[in-house]
Amino acid sequence: MGWNDKIIAEFRENNGKVGGRFEGAPMLLVTTAGRRTGKPHTTPVIHLHDGDHYLIFGANAGRDRHPDWYHNILAAAQVTVELGTAGGRVEPFAAQAVPLEGEERDRQWERQCAIDPAFRDYEKTSGRTIPVVAITVLDLAADPHRARMIAEQLTRLHGNLRAELAAARARLDEAGARPPAPDLLQQLRRHCLTYCFDLQMHHTREDGAFTAFERRFPGLAPTIARLREEHEAIEKLLARFETFLDRQDTGTAEIRAELERVVDDLEAHFVHEEEALLAATENA
Ligand SMILES: [Fe+2]
Ligand SMILES: [Fe+2]
Repeated sequence: MGWNDKIIAEFRENNGKVGGRFEGAPMLLVTTAGRRTGKPHTTPVIHLHDGDHYLIFGANAGRDRHPDWYHNILAAAQVTVELGTAGGRVEPFAAQAVPLEGEERDRQWERQCAIDPAFRDYEKTSGRTIPVVAITVLDLAADPHRARMIAEQLTRLHGNLRAELAAARARLDEAGARPPAPDLLQQLRRHCLTYCFDLQMHHTREDGAFTAFERRFPGLAPTIARLREEHEAIEKLLARFETFLDRQDTGTAEIRAELERVVDDLEAHFVHEEEALLAATENA
């Protein structure tokens, strides 16, 4: 387990608190979509609370380049943040991340340096203007129509995810009963990896949006708990499918059958999710 992973695990276990170098510092975890891979990328960062926003700083511990999360945010502003809560456990929140500019950036940067002088040192050693990013958590109470828009958007995204799986199935059907050619396996592996990242990112974003739905529609809590469990089950199934593709002795029919299991569970999940979220937001 790497250094970042240890902090992430400690953060999640202790309702957002970590020891060592970050003892007592206000922390959050930010998950961005990797700008090249689409893979979820989680980083612990110190934050400064400012009214409705959480401000985070691309100090990258004084290195001479901006952190990956910052580049990812420039490519896609939609992020998930994890925060300790009054309920005593870390929860994920869907959020938008926007870099501050000009005087506003400078003012907030000075505030942070006054609170934590280590940031001044980071600025000096990095030789960069450190980016300051404002994170705004999705609040469905503030914008009632937003819930409906999100439910519809998720349904559309499911359409794309369904189509990709159908394409993988079609390729296997073309191969028929013949043993899979090495290039077909290669293609499937590549396809599967991209697909896994897309789906992981989709689930990460949903987990954050679910928190906002739970707060807006408290009656949805049991359904959402089940949808979150389904996300975990599907991740495991996909990981299993991946290892299955790596085996040397698998036939086309076996791969097809294994893929069918993924498709069935995923389809059932999509249907549960669409029904629950569209029904909850029907009159929004
Ligand atoms: Fe979904
Ligand atoms: Fe989902």
